[in-house]
Amino acid sequence: STSFRLLPDTDRAIEAAAQTIIELVKGRPDAILGLATGGTMEPLYGHLVTAHHDGLSFARVRTVNLDEYVGLSPDHPNSYHSYMAQHFFDHVDVAEQNIYIPQGEIEPAQAAHKYSALLERLGPVDLQLLGIGANGHIGFNEPGTAVDAPTRVVELLPSTIKANARFFSAGDVVPSHAVTMGTAEILSARSIVALATGAAKARALADALDGTIGPDCPASYLRLHANCTIFADKLAGAEL
Ligand code: GLP
Repeated sequence: STSFRLLPDTDRAIEAAAQTIIELVKGRPDAILGLATGGTMEPLYGHLVTAHHDGLSFARVRTVNLDEYVGLSPDHPNSYHSYMAQHFFDHVDVAEQNIYIPQGEIEPAQAAHKYSALLERLGPVDLQLLGIGANGHIGFNEPGTAVDAPTRVVELLPSTIKANARFFSAGDVVPSHAVTMGTAEILSARSIVALATGAAKARALADALDGTIGPDCPASYLRLHANCTIFADKLAGAEL
């Protein structure tokens, strides 16, 4: 079942989501964590880094990221490889060989195929962390995505390209395509922690929690999961 936790402010929503991950890793030091990027997650990784400084080890954890932009090499400043290094991996003891992110720099169909095979080999993710796009996307599974869509190459919608342009420097073009974990793999995680903060997510969160479960809002599929917790702050909860 899906539970919803509305927290009085942004910090507490982020902290509550982070705490769920910290507790999981304490109890299961070799957990497989599904990780997400985006502005929402930056402070969440700050909490995980603090937990590491307080003694929590990620040395045996394996991590699989949701997605990567097509065309960006790992050292491109806007790649999700760079994001993860900057916000998390460079500050904790996750082993390099335990980190998995789709490859943006190789032929995209090949990158998707390799990532799909990897996910299959790893088996179920213990905890999948998810943000929610302002249009209801999860990973880069845009509106229109079926519930059982596989890991694949996707074309980003103009609204997503616009929303993510803030992370790119002027003159730098936001990639039009990405390789994303599919809704099928996302929903096969043993548990899911989704986090929505800020007024820009209010519509998407209302659609996800109260709207029809279907492709118009891929985040609505979370209501089909057996063990999903959605954390939100008051701003994101404004249209519920
Ligand atoms: C991005 C990512 C998602 C993320 C979402 C929300 O495009 N692919 O994984 O959860 O959109 O991003 P933000 O937290 O910056 O609003």
